[in-house]
Amino acid sequence: FLTEKGSVSAKCASNIALIKYWGKRDVQIPMNPSISFTLNNSYTETVLKFNPKEDEEIALKVFLDGALKEDFAPKIIQFFQRIEKYIPFLKRFEFEIHTHNTFPHSSGIASSASGMGALSLCLVELENQLGGNLKEDEKLKKASFLARLGSGSACRSIYPGLTVWGETENIEGSSDLYAVPYPHEVHENFRNFQDCILLIDEGQKEVSSTVGHGLMEGHPYAAQRFQSAEENLKKLIPILKNGDLEAFGKIVEHEALSLHAMMMTSHPYFILMKPNTLKVIEKIWEFRKNTSLPLYFTLDAGANVHLLYPEFAKEEIALFIMETLKSQYNSGKMVKDFSF
Ligand code: PMV
Repeated sequence: FLTEKGSVSAKCASNIALIKYWGKRDVQIPMNPSISFTLNNSYTETVLKFNPKEDEEIALKVFLDGALKEDFAPKIIQFFQRIEKYIPFLKRFEFEIHTHNTFPHSSGIASSASGMGALSLCLVELENQLGGNLKEDEKLKKASFLARLGSGSACRSIYPGLTVWGETENIEGSSDLYAVPYPHEVHENFRNFQDCILLIDEGQKEVSSTVGHGLMEGHPYAAQRFQSAEENLKKLIPILKNGDLEAFGKIVEHEALSLHAMMMTSHPYFILMKPNTLKVIEKIWEFRKNTSLPLYFTLDAGANVHLLYPEFAKEEIALFIMETLKSQYNSGKMVKDFSF
């Protein structure tokens, strides 16, 4: 048992879903399976400092780039309350959580996924320091389980590359409780797959993901949406194997637009896309028609556009992104990452 203060550290990247998670039940149980690419360059680094204490309260402070963030604490406290039964030492220490993101703030990259992932990795590391005997694969599984309780999509960030969360008969070993690395064969077209994020709007989101998930309860098209995600995932498996980029694009873009269609048809309805989101989508389609080059898009719960393309076409596509898309439609910033 550790009676002295100390620290553990971890890093965890953000991820972008190809098959979207939108709608949950109970405590962070997804209504459909999802699959994502974990990014490479956009990650959170966290140092968790711990100091033994006597009382029975959860005590923590959160710092971002050295500055105390009091508004971040309630979400982490709620997270700690949820995971207390799985990490019984949480009340024995006061914690300082020091985080740094390698990507710009409000860039449309989910810092909750990388942040909750990194913090969960710190906690399993600390568990082992306190005498837990988790092996490397058990540590990752537990970190993914914990991260899910912080932010659903965060559980997929624990593993690199393609990751699946949500029980489905199409993925052996898949679970609603944690993510697993994608177990099937992947064509080289999808290795080092590129994701360039075009920042359309850097403002605060008008509707949070939590509220959005909630609006899937009683949504008129919920059942069809959950079924459609399952079908899209099933169709994606042979495509990832045979490298058919056109078929990949059809599914991924359909998923992105389905996610936003759910937002537009919930009660109350809302729209997170901006006029430039649509203009960029039109430009991508036009570019594809004119050049036959494999450039596709996906969207997260926001206005920014993730531009997806294989490594072999990156020179020509990067030129188009810089000359046409970036100069005309984005807010001035762009985040270049690549996945897998
Ligand atoms: O993890 P949450 O609760 O922030 O939900 C994220 C949902 C989407 O990012 C829109 C889709 C996904 O699967 O990542």
